[in-house]
Amino acid sequence: MDNPGGRVPNFTRSGFLLHIVFASTSGHTEYVVDALIDSLKDIAPGWEIEETMAETTQPQDLLRGDVLLLASATWNTGSIEGQLNPYMSVLLQDKAKNLDLASKPCAAIGLGDDRYFYTARAADHLEHYVTTHHGRLILPTLKILNEPYGQEETVRGWGKQLVDVLKQIG
Ligand SMILES: Cc1cc2nc3c(=O)[nH]c(=O)nc-3n(C[C@H](O)[C@H](O)[C@H](O)COP(=O)(O)O)c2cc1C
Repeated sequence: MDNPGGRVPNFTRSGFLLHIVFASTSGHTEYVVDALIDSLKDIAPGWEIEETMAETTQPQDLLRGDVLLLASATWNTGSIEGQLNPYMSVLLQDKAKNLDLASKPCAAIGLGDDRYFYTARAADHLEHYVTTHHGRLILPTLKILNEPYGQEETVRGWGKQLVDVLKQIG
């Protein structure tokens, strides 16, 4: 496991850092990430949470923190439907294509719209990235279909699962 500082992971200690890297074009993914952070402030008050946009993220940044959470909607990047958001695609499929996640605990959120054939396929791309780069997916990916407004309870429930899984690991 990647642990350059020699720090022993402890998922319940204060100072635990969740690093969220997201891409959002019309604001839906950002809304989901913000709803998750709001919930986690209640559920896991000791956690530090860092939010970074994919367009300003460098490959090594993906190793920062105790857990990496990737979030992206599904887009027609390169004129093909069912792809990652363009910024997330550049980050994961180009800039960080050779990164080794070294067993890092990871989770993912994928958004989409059920009017598209490849509904929320971003979730599959994010999972594929984690597993093929030796990350460790610690819970099933959250999929949010259509407008996220009004889906805050689903996001909260997933956030609780994330905390519970990490308590078990820690
Ligand atoms: C040009 C375009 C292409 C899209 N392609 C897909 C797609 O292939 N599959 C899907 O499920 N949703 C697709 N969507 C819907 C978006 O994933 C959805 O609106 C999402 O909530 C946008 O999130 P964002 O604002 O964070 O980028 C597409 C939307 C647009 C505008």
